[in-house]
Amino acid sequence: MKRYILLNPGPVNVSPRVQQALLRGDLCHREEEFSDLLVAIRTKLLRAFVPRDYTAVPVSGSGTLAVEAMVSSAMPEGRKLLVINNGVYGERMLHMAEAHRIPTVELRYNWTERPDLSQIESTLQADSTIHAVALVHHETTTGLLNLVNEVGAITRRAGRWLLLDAVSALASEELDMVRDGIDLCACTANKCIQGLPGVSFVLVSNAAMVAMQQYPQRSLYLHLPLHWEAQERRSIPFTPSVQAWYALDEALDELLEETVAKRIQRYHAAAHLLRDGFARLGLKSLLPPDLQSHSLTSLLLPEGMTYPLLHDGLKERGFVIYEGQGKLQTGVFRVANMGHLTLDDFRQFLTALEAILS
Ligand SMILES: Cc1ncc(COP(=O)(O)O)c(C=O)c1O
Repeated sequence: MKRYILLNPGPVNVSPRVQQALLRGDLCHREEEFSDLLVAIRTKLLRAFVPRDYTAVPVSGSGTLAVEAMVSSAMPEGRKLLVINNGVYGERMLHMAEAHRIPTVELRYNWTERPDLSQIESTLQADSTIHAVALVHHETTTGLLNLVNEVGAITRRAGRWLLLDAVSALASEELDMVRDGIDLCACTANKCIQGLPGVSFVLVSNAAMVAMQQYPQRSLYLHLPLHWEAQERRSIPFTPSVQAWYALDEALDELLEETVAKRIQRYHAAAHLLRDGFARLGLKSLLPPDLQSHSLTSLLLPEGMTYPLLHDGLKERGFVIYEGQGKLQTGVFRVANMGHLTLDDFRQFLTALEAILS
């Protein structure tokens, strides 16, 4: 089968070692070997991202499942969730809260703007029934990086929880869960962690997990305390995607060997190389540099070029790019730099891009 270099924001290219992990063999999830795998993954997640005072809850399913488990589990009865909405994924958290009949307050911003910090602060001051703030770290819609540290300082001062969708940010952007005051953080295996689709996870502060045990159970499948209680007994409530968990286990070994700090540096170097190349080719970014994440660039389609033409030409040459999303579907295309790729892969992509644009 032809190997494509995936420049979409997940699922990403993984290493041969992670692919090989799929072949560890068939396994019943009620056997000791699965319990060992579960414990290994939970331990490695904490070692990589937050060694103290937190617990890790892996769940089978895509990133959306982890985010919805976070949103639906972290809210006491009758209290509100303040959702910061500056992209598709902020909007999705709002819809999740609504689906679970959780009262919400929305602060909506332009997709190319960061949220107004003083407005978040005054909204929390004015409404004591707001229990938590939901924020997306990296809005993959555009590649905009939200300032978790600043929002975390506000939520901490106000004594509210911070729920973070870090699905496309964890392991590519700097994040200190304790310093930034993050109570719950949802992520997936198949983006910057460089595992395969089918497993995701939520990191939860121990204090939040204790509190959440008293909160309403809005869903059987998504209730995090239910998963956590079973996992603490080396078990899980439902059938997991075992092979995806094998791949995550291997991907976490790779991450710990590379170190999170070096993974972040590698992604930053790739983003810089790509952005220098885009500028050389006369392509314009949707966002100014100070708003951009380090794992995805949204670019304006040049005059006279259509997305299908660009996409198909690149795919013929072995590269898969991604179209714009939502109201940016036309006129914008996206290039991610996530996954098991080298700077040489990105140089070859720029050469192919140049050939098509000229
Ligand atoms: C920030 C963010 N949140 C949530 C999701 C949803 O993840 P999934 O498509 O794995 O369900 C994505 C997917 O791209 C994302 O980028």
